[in-house]
Amino acid sequence: MTKTIVNPYDVRGKVNYDRLIQEFGLKSIDESLLNRIKKYTKELHPMLTRKIFFAHRDLDWLFDEYDKGNKFFIYTGCGPSGPIHIGHLVVWYFAKWLQDKFDADLYFQFTDDEKFMYKDLSYDEIQEWLNENILDVIAVGFNPKKTHFIIDTKHAGLLYPEAIKVAKKITFSTIKSSFGFNDNTNIGSIFFTSMQTVPSFLPSILKKKNIPCLIPHAVDQDPHFRLTRDILPKLGYYKPASIQCSFLPPLTGSEGKMSSSESIKGILTTDTPQEIKEKINKYAFSGGQATLEEHKKKGGNPDIDVPFQYLKYLFEESDEKLNELERNYRMGILSSGEMKKYAIEKITKFILEHQKRRKFAKQKIPNFMIKY
Ligand code: TRP
Repeated sequence: MTKTIVNPYDVRGKVNYDRLIQEFGLKSIDESLLNRIKKYTKELHPMLTRKIFFAHRDLDWLFDEYDKGNKFFIYTGCGPSGPIHIGHLVVWYFAKWLQDKFDADLYFQFTDDEKFMYKDLSYDEIQEWLNENILDVIAVGFNPKKTHFIIDTKHAGLLYPEAIKVAKKITFSTIKSSFGFNDNTNIGSIFFTSMQTVPSFLPSILKKKNIPCLIPHAVDQDPHFRLTRDILPKLGYYKPASIQCSFLPPLTGSEGKMSSSESIKGILTTDTPQEIKEKINKYAFSGGQATLEEHKKKGGNPDIDVPFQYLKYLFEESDEKLNELERNYRMGILSSGEMKKYAIEKITKFILEHQKRRKFAKQKIPNFMIKY
């Protein structure tokens, strides 16, 4: 078995999320917290009730502040190094829900500097991905009046004076142990986490008062924000709160995470219905039995069935329908072919709607850029 590794630059092996909560020092999202969230949002997002977002830091504090009238902003981001796949969409569609429910400002960072330093891609290639990825973020449907894009290289003049204040508080040895770096790591990568920290307090600077921050993100980003949380009080700001999700499984099964650098690419936001169908039919790992006869007798396993997992993460909004699929699959009433067919239908519908918005995204870019 491969060793489990979870950090921003490497996710490998079968992730045990309970153990990760222990190791990272996270809090799980329990029933009482869900009830508290529901008090504000009236209904709970399926990603909450299904425990896709399974852990947090300081949400209780965040809502205590909220109750006192101290509203929070949301901060999340994208590292532009390839096409956007459905794994990215999990966090972004959830962030949109949060923005709508709390009528919150959202600061969205594009870390083109990060991807340039970490990936074997030229600066121009990164810029091309940046331009593409921006369209997908706009297509999610964020509120243009309340959403502020920050591009690290473009807004360097705004970020850099703050990033150096962060960098001065972090030692090389801390960085090495946080991200698994060694003496051969390029020096840009060593500095980078300072840039990812800045948006968590930038609004406090721009608005000249301390504003609480909530970061929705996939759990692999936690090492960045652990450092952020150590440093911000030293600079006079609140520690950011976070809400963290597990990884959408890659097509081929349930180890690691979907990734745009994988040889069998995940399902992309630019895929045609035909491509979606082919990817699911050809590559999606099935939790069904080898033959239909055996399947009817023994039933399938939805926990490892990739099409079912995709429905659960993002594409089946109805709990009732999801439970029915799960039940029938376990009992062998629903075949893996039928599960795939249903997943293809739902994913295609979702992606086509995303693409409709994506088509009109380009002209909206200026509205989304941070003004300062
Ligand atoms: N580093 C992230 C990535 O590689 C991008 C990112 C920047 C981000 N700021 C963030 C992700 C805040 C989540 C929350 O994708």
